[in-house]
Amino acid sequence: RILILDFGSQVTQLIARRVREASVYCEVHPCDVTDDFIREEQTKGLKGIILSGSHASSYEDGSMKAPQAVFEAGVPVLGICYGMQTMAAQLGGKVTYSDHREFGYAEVRAHGHTKLLEGIEDHRTPEGHGMLKVWMSHGDQVTSLPPGFKVMASTPSCPIAGIADEERGYYAVQFHPEVTHTVQGMAMLARFVHEICGCGTDWNMPDYVEEAIEKIRAQVGSDDVILGLSGGVDSSVAAALIHRAIGDQLTCVFVDHGLLRLDEGKQVMQTFAENMGVKIIHVDATEQFMSKLHGVTDPEAKRKIIGREFVEVFQDQASKLKSAKWLAQGTIYPDVIESAGAKTGKAVTIKSHHNVGGLPDTLKLSLLEPLRELFKDEVRKLGVALGLPPAMVYRHPFPGPGLGVRILGEVKKEYADLLRRADAIFIEELRNTVDAATGKSWYDLTSQAFAVFLPVKSVGVMGDGRTYDYVVALRAVETSDFMTAGWAELPYSLLGKVSGRIINEVRGINRVVYDVSSKPPATIEWE
Ligand code: XMP
Repeated sequence: RILILDFGSQVTQLIARRVREASVYCEVHPCDVTDDFIREEQTKGLKGIILSGSHASSYEDGSMKAPQAVFEAGVPVLGICYGMQTMAAQLGGKVTYSDHREFGYAEVRAHGHTKLLEGIEDHRTPEGHGMLKVWMSHGDQVTSLPPGFKVMASTPSCPIAGIADEERGYYAVQFHPEVTHTVQGMAMLARFVHEICGCGTDWNMPDYVEEAIEKIRAQVGSDDVILGLSGGVDSSVAAALIHRAIGDQLTCVFVDHGLLRLDEGKQVMQTFAENMGVKIIHVDATEQFMSKLHGVTDPEAKRKIIGREFVEVFQDQASKLKSAKWLAQGTIYPDVIESAGAKTGKAVTIKSHHNVGGLPDTLKLSLLEPLRELFKDEVRKLGVALGLPPAMVYRHPFPGPGLGVRILGEVKKEYADLLRRADAIFIEELRNTVDAATGKSWYDLTSQAFAVFLPVKSVGVMGDGRTYDYVVALRAVETSDFMTAGWAELPYSLLGKVSGRIINEVRGINRVVYDVSSKPPATIEWE
């Protein structure tokens, strides 16, 4: 096992994620754990320690140090950024403080033959030096080496960008190998955990499931837990995992706000209640939502109403479950970062996000968030390991307010019914149409795709008659982070087929258009 000591960097969890990617078990703990904690870890098969970076912009006061036992544990240690500075300072080197910081890409030159970097390079200079493209953040720097260390990497502005004492297995880098901008970063971390620490590649998702189950059992004991199940990936995986851990101590509340996709309610009940035996309270709150949305056309007002009603319905159900002591949520690591960022209050609100996970603390329940350390793709793998249908786990994201933000202007049940059918046709055709070049379906080639209901009528002709019906827009985007997105270049034949089917099969819609706007300046959802 690898121990990661967290000095408070936003990307510490990324280090953990890379170590897991290398099939090695790891745990993240705060940097101020005691010496005894480290000694305890040694009895559990500790093979190496990684010291993370820090949000602290300066090493100056040196207030955060690694426990001394880290350097007495007899295992290799890798220091990253701040972790390098504290390692150097604690072992007798010198760190020079600076209030000028540099962030960004850098080219690092590797020196000598170190086990960490040997044979790992992006390109080679004519003089034969191995060069690495890295993501660097430095201001303070190590300016004199601790005894026993040599320089392993340098840049013109940071002559000591990497150090090593190979005898003791100590390595440190000023750059961040855990971020993807450091092209060979994964190779370096894999080298550290496998070859330097000697960890095997025997840790995998089924092991994670077992560990997570143990943790949940230890955390909740014999208490009851409630969870708001939305049918989305995160809450579904959380439900499956918690149910595996504590069975009937878990009750899920599934609120149908009448703005779900076609047959979604049925699918959720089938997967969880029928196939897995999860206790679910299924609340059909369509009437309540529709009456509250009646006459409301402003997008922000709609979002707020849907969010508020959701909380009310959920709270009402939760208060009936008197024995529940825990509120489980499918919070994943990017949510943790996002809400931390949101707390600074520096950003303008483009859309007030309503996430079915975002419930109030008036319930007086303790939070259970078993996916808090995982990234989306890891959550999906976990879902598959738990036996959830891959089609559910690899679904496109669906916003909390559902079709409420895809029916422009006033939401009416009649509009939702038309939109559900049009959307289902679009998704079915995307799933069934395979791109010859990649062998993948267009559903898998796009990041998110859906239909939008436009409450405008246009004239058409069908058979011998005139029609005067509504318009549906199709939206399909490609993106990796949903912050920016490009419209998907779907084949015309596919668009033609979808349009033909929608107009023929969904009475009330006589025109289909395709949205060719990218984000920015447009957003992915229309409201
Ligand atoms: P936009 O429209 O802002 O969407 O470009 C970016 C991503 O966020 C999703 N989205 C939401 N998800 N609650 C959610 O859980 C919301 O209120 C919400 N609004 C937008 C959207 O579907 C896209 O994936």
